Amino acid sequence: MTTVLITGGHSGIGLAASRELARAGADLVLAGRSPERMQQVADELTADHGVTVALLRLDTSSLASVREAAAELGRWRETGAIAELDAVLCNAGGRYDGEVGYSTEGYELTFATNHLGNVLLVDLLRPHLSAMARVIVTASGTHDPESVDGRLVGAAVEPDAAVLAHIGRDGAAPLSAGKRYSTSKMCAVMYIYELDRRLRAEGSDVHAIAFDPGQVPETGFLRDMPRIVQRVATTSLFGWISKRIGGVVSDVGFSGGSLARLAIAPGYADRTGEYFQANDGVLSAVRSATLTYDRRRAAKLWDDSVDLIEQAVPGAMAPTR
Ligand SMILES: NC(=O)c1ccc[n+]([C@@H]2O[C@H](COP(=O)([O-])OP(=O)(O)OC[C@H]3O[C@@H](n4cnc5c(N)ncnc54)[C@H](OP(=O)(O)O)[C@@H]3O)[C@@H](O)[C@H]2O)c1
Repeated sequence: MTTVLITGGHSGIGLAASRELARAGADLVLAGRSPERMQQVADELTADHGVTVALLRLDTSSLASVREAAAELGRWRETGAIAELDAVLCNAGGRYDGEVGYSTEGYELTFATNHLGNVLLVDLLRPHLSAMARVIVTASGTHDPESVDGRLVGAAVEPDAAVLAHIGRDGAAPLSAGKRYSTSKMCAVMYIYELDRRLRAEGSDVHAIAFDPGQVPETGFLRDMPRIVQRVATTSLFGWISKRIGGVVSDVGFSGGSLARLAIAPGYADRTGEYFQANDGVLSAVRSATLTYDRRRAAKLWDDSVDLIEQAVPGAMAPTR
């Protein structure tokens, strides 16, 4: 039996992935901050596919919440309520328009939600992973400042954790919401590459993959945007133009299905340290932004991220890292 933990598995791309995983017979842990919506999805998946679905309260923007969620999962493991995790899908995320917001620990919200929370979550879940588990972070093509998607949203800036965590504080100029988002996703890709290197160095068989679902306008992703932007983005004309100018375009079924395949399909069992993209009905490993291959920057991002986590929640990271 396969068991998969997915964050944000009750909506959008995550929901499509959860449905595909349940159809394939995987038991699920739905982790998120919307218990009622998660319960509805759990009921649907159990009724339709007979799988077991556990619900874990988790707000990825809050390091304290991540810690509590991991502790709760640890208790389930001790009692045998759930099996080892064969995949952890860090899929939850978003962009936050309007004024710069901060997490409960005081870190910029986009960076905290899309990057820091995942770093802590994966670290704390390591003891509960099966030997060849797959860790997948849903990143975004917008992370690449040279891509059409990156330019449309706002080109990512230097992935410096110590700066990004405090964007807009103490009179510093805030980054646009688009740039905060694309940069947080650049951090996500670099985190996966660094995680992969560290896993290999340890001799671990756990795999790490970054995934770009492409532009998927029919999810809740644009919910903070003006109605007119949401309407235009979901038209087929917008998709057509986007594709013509080089954007990476997909739909929720294909992107969610791709995430599910990366998580459990035997064909991807030996893939690690790679960046996969769902583009117009094709899932393939592609090159990410040039900067993401900079090992020195990635190692610094890792160390600075761990420092930020430790400053906010001392002793949170597992003692070995
Ligand atoms: N749609 C696109 O065009 C696109 C393109 C590239 C990458 N992505 C990425 O794909 C992933 C899924 O997004 P989506 O498009 O499917 O949008 P979505 O429908 O809005 O789903 C986002 C999910 O993330 C959850 N989430 C957000 N913040 C959270 C937090 N602090 N704690 C726990 N859960 C949180 C949401 O939960 P709630 O329901 O509680 O808000 C929701 O389930 C995101 O990482 C997004 O950045 C999307």
